[in-house]
Amino acid sequence: MRLLVLGGTVFVSHAVAAAAVARGHRVTCAARGVSGSVPVGAELVRVDRDQPDGLEPLDGRTFDAVVDVESLSFTRVRRALAALGPGAGHWTYVSTSSVYADNETPGQRAGAAPLLDPAPDGADETDRGQYGPLKVACENAVRSAVGERAFVCRPGLIVGPGDWSDRFGYWPARVSLGGRFLAPGRAENEVQYVDVRDCAAWIVTAAEQGLVGTLDAMCPAVRWGDWLTDLSTAVGSAGEPVWVQQDFLVEHGVEPWMGPGSLPMWLPIPEYAGFMTRDVSESLTAGLRIRPLQDTAAASLAWERELGLDRERRSGITREREAELLRLWADRSGPATPSC
Ligand SMILES: NC(=O)c1ccc[n+]([C@@H]2O[C@H](COP(=O)([O-])OP(=O)(O)OC[C@H]3O[C@@H](n4cnc5c(N)ncnc54)[C@H](OP(=O)(O)O)[C@@H]3O)[C@@H](O)[C@H]2O)c1
Repeated sequence: MRLLVLGGTVFVSHAVAAAAVARGHRVTCAARGVSGSVPVGAELVRVDRDQPDGLEPLDGRTFDAVVDVESLSFTRVRRALAALGPGAGHWTYVSTSSVYADNETPGQRAGAAPLLDPAPDGADETDRGQYGPLKVACENAVRSAVGERAFVCRPGLIVGPGDWSDRFGYWPARVSLGGRFLAPGRAENEVQYVDVRDCAAWIVTAAEQGLVGTLDAMCPAVRWGDWLTDLSTAVGSAGEPVWVQQDFLVEHGVEPWMGPGSLPMWLPIPEYAGFMTRDVSESLTAGLRIRPLQDTAAASLAWERELGLDRERRSGITREREAELLRLWADRSGPATPSC
């Protein structure tokens, strides 16, 4: 298969190109080539999607399949569809589970869940605050141009080697250090994500098999308590989680989900009870394969060590801040009342 990856120099698109090369496909990556390199065995064609005619270096070329990972800009997505859509046998657009309007209801399926309204033409296509609406507009552009040949893949949190967001990696990194560690909310809350290599493998399979439609890409939801236990086993640590109520975290200024000073991947319940509890049975039937946590944890920890465990993190709290919060939590809980 001749596969074009619009991107290929970082994280998701790099993993897609690498998976396709490993399966023996002829892979072309189209990017500026400034964020990193394309995988060994892939060709790089330098393009600039910011320019109206920026895809000209691909003129006259057709591909059996195209994968577009464009993050926000429906203008870029439309330009790529206009230039390459007519000659493409199959088109994958990497969207996101942030397109959904209802984050509260657990167990929703891709086909049935309501979406945010699309960003209108003229919207600021660099506004990360409008991520969901912009992605809906990108999806719509794909469907209206190549809908009968399109796979719209909606990943949840994408994790693993090459992830610069520091979200998932916080946990294997912290758990590997052992001791009592701060765990957010309740052990029975759930968590959901996808290993970048599983997401990439599925995208290549979708292109090989001509999968069409719109599906989520994430592992089945797992309880935080079980997940942290398995994570401890995977990284060979005997750490002990201390479950701290979400109200306490909010009161003490701990941010949810991401960013400096956050507890990554923690989301307030019930407001976000549906965000990481999506029903992915259709995706699993359609070829998504999820590797064991063991593998994802080991690869994420190796990536964390490469970045440096004591670096300033984009997401997560420091050991000092964690110790302070645990101390305050213990004080607030108070000693057990003696009985007589
Ligand atoms: N991370 C997550 O947890 C998550 C979750 C759900 C969905 N997603 C989606 O996954 C996708 C992420 O894709 P990604 O990891 O490959 O990262 P990305 O940061 O979106 O990079 C995409 C590629 O675009 C290229 N690029 C950037 N500007 C360009 C330009 N002006 N002209 C041509 N190429 C340009 C980059 O290469 P050069 O800079 O070298 O040109 C890079 O290879 C996004 O669509 C995101 O919405 C991510």
